[in-house]
Amino acid sequence: MTTIGILGSGHVGSNLARAAIAHGYDVVLSNSQGPETIVGLAGELGPKARAATPAEAAAAADFAIVAIPLPAIGRVPVEPLAGKVVIATINYFPQRDGHVPAIDDGITTAPGLLQAHLPASRVVRAFSMINAAEMSGDGHPAGDPKRRALALAGDDLGGLAESWRVDPGQPAFVVRQDAAELRANAARASRV
Ligand SMILES: NC(=O)c1ccc[n+]([C@@H]2O[C@H](COP(=O)([O-])OP(=O)(O)OC[C@H]3O[C@@H](n4cnc5c(N)ncnc54)[C@H](OP(=O)(O)O)[C@@H]3O)[C@@H](O)[C@H]2O)c1
Repeated sequence: MTTIGILGSGHVGSNLARAAIAHGYDVVLSNSQGPETIVGLAGELGPKARAATPAEAAAAADFAIVAIPLPAIGRVPVEPLAGKVVIATINYFPQRDGHVPAIDDGITTAPGLLQAHLPASRVVRAFSMINAAEMSGDGHPAGDPKRRALALAGDDLGGLAESWRVDPGQPAFVVRQDAAELRANAARASRV
């Protein structure tokens, strides 16, 4: 059985947990306030979910999902995620998160900050360009006209540094699109 350690159990973490369980995964949920504050959510998700601390979720993970606000990146446990794939849903909204000059200047990206914090992990940007409410229940099989495309970016996958192309405000962000439309939207992204 594959276990996903989920750091952040808000809108994104809880919806991805629901989708993962529907696909046969076990999940370990965590947040900043402590497992006692998410036992209700874990109970609602059923026997394939349990609540833990971020360090415990990271240690239990075959791979992890980090679904937290950008300013919390520095508190993600490093050692238990070493050698693991870490999916980052984190977006940067300066009006919410405060300005980060290295992102504003195009030197890094939101998932790039997490990769710098987790040098021994393999950070992959995913699920950052879809509304949380649509993460569970909107999956469609290959060939279905309703199937939507989502971008992945990682340093094994074509470059975390290029992942700004699906940032908030870019043409590909949050819109329903197929693979050809996503490629076209990512290609016309602009940083100016
Ligand atoms: N909402 C969306 O539709 C959406 C879609 C795609 C991407 N995103 C991005 O995904 C990230 C999460 O968004 P969200 O909407 O799920 O936020 P949210 O509902 O505010 O949930 C954030 C979660 O992160 C937890 N958290 C904060 N600091 C933490 C830490 N140090 N360790 C572990 N958990 C911590 C919070 O726990 P406490 O409540 O205990 O503090 C909470 O469970 C954001 O970067 C957002 O931009 C959001």
